[in-house]
Amino acid sequence: MSNNREQWSSKASFILAAAGSAVGLGNIWKFPYIAGENGGAAFLFIYLICIVLVGLPILNIEILLGRATQKNPVGAFKTLTDKPFWKYVGALGVFASFTILSFYSIVGGWSVAYTFEALKGTFSSFDNPQMAADFFNLKNSSPMWVIGWHTVFFLMIVGIILSGVRAGLEKASKFLMPVLFGILMILVVQGLMLPGADGGVSFLFSPDWSKINPQTFLLALGHAFFTLSLGMGAMMTYGSYLSEKDDVVNASYMVAFLDTVIAILAGVAIFTVVFSSGYDPAAGPGLVFHVLPPLLAQLVGGYIFALLFFLLLTIAAVTSGISILEVSVAYLVDELKYSRKKATLTMGMLVYLAAIPCALSFNLWSDVTLLGTGLTFFDAADFLASNVLLPLGGFFLAIFAGYVWGIDEVVRNLLIGDSGSVYFGNSIFKSSSFKSVFSFLIRYLSPVLIFLVFLYVLGWI
Ligand code: PFF
Repeated sequence: MSNNREQWSSKASFILAAAGSAVGLGNIWKFPYIAGENGGAAFLFIYLICIVLVGLPILNIEILLGRATQKNPVGAFKTLTDKPFWKYVGALGVFASFTILSFYSIVGGWSVAYTFEALKGTFSSFDNPQMAADFFNLKNSSPMWVIGWHTVFFLMIVGIILSGVRAGLEKASKFLMPVLFGILMILVVQGLMLPGADGGVSFLFSPDWSKINPQTFLLALGHAFFTLSLGMGAMMTYGSYLSEKDDVVNASYMVAFLDTVIAILAGVAIFTVVFSSGYDPAAGPGLVFHVLPPLLAQLVGGYIFALLFFLLLTIAAVTSGISILEVSVAYLVDELKYSRKKATLTMGMLVYLAAIPCALSFNLWSDVTLLGTGLTFFDAADFLASNVLLPLGGFFLAIFAGYVWGIDEVVRNLLIGDSGSVYFGNSIFKSSSFKSVFSFLIRYLSPVLIFLVFLYVLGWI
């Protein structure tokens, strides 16, 4: 273990940073539209099952692997086994971080751009979502606009990462996460006070089971990985800055809990507005950029609400964006002994360039689709990351923990670092029945479920 590796100043700092990674565009941009398109509460139900049975155990494993080895994903596997196969699994994570950031940063750029548009009062003149959709399409038809805002977003995350773990990642999360929560609460309260808000609430909480099909499971499982930042080593990298005295189990509960609560609250904030204005909740990826700006802007105090909403989206994107880039930066620092500055600038530049095809997917290359999939670069990056790379990473993590490292070793490590509480900390692993449930989830349930999802993606079932 290298002694000059930086660490979080406390477990609470880690929880905030990890929650910052988890709570992102996935919660505020993606979750509401996926839920909107897939029956609202019915999707929420399946998604919660995926979080508890698959997401939470794998989150524990990922953070633990980081804490136990104090390394990036490639280094972590190399430390625990000499079978070369596993370091490629780590490398797959570094590749996934590229793929995700290449489309994430485009949406992050839109969020920053919309914060400025909200500040200028642009949305007050829109009186229906069609106008907002036309505005969105017009803006995106300019490659310079999309690339320009992608650049601004990128400079923000590179700036934070350059400052290091404590002065950068930790400080940013400690400041931004409470702001995010405060803004979200304001939006939830105003949403609930709107006439017709109950339509939005019941859409999220009363399930229509007829909407559930195998596709729902695929989406829910893929989204569980995405929203908890699992399967590509982001949580492992953040976990590698934890000290041994910090309890992984308790931190994992907290992160999963905050992430889920914030996704549900974002759903309430958004669907109350959508329903009270009588619009379609199944508006797809454009929900927050097409439908929401005019609806928010027309409320009493709408200028402020639109501004707060896009600020919320920007903060969520920044605190997640830094965790995605940190994976590849940590890789260069640990494995190739780069300085943090050189690693950040190198990876920053590479990922920045990798995002350009995604930026062009809305204009110059809107007709370019990949290998007969019919997907643009942007859609393909999203699909590949969320539905293939992250679940695949999760599959290998479960196999590694369950069969290579071994459940006994996992549990022995989980018991290091004491939370002092029986149910919400690692003490729960002292019970042998809990240990067998955990072992079942890691060794059998997670790999089998993920495998089935793959067969489905490939069209084999
Ligand atoms: N969890 C983030 C979100 O919900 O937006 C996205 C993400 C961050 C995915 C970090 C993967 C990752 F490693």
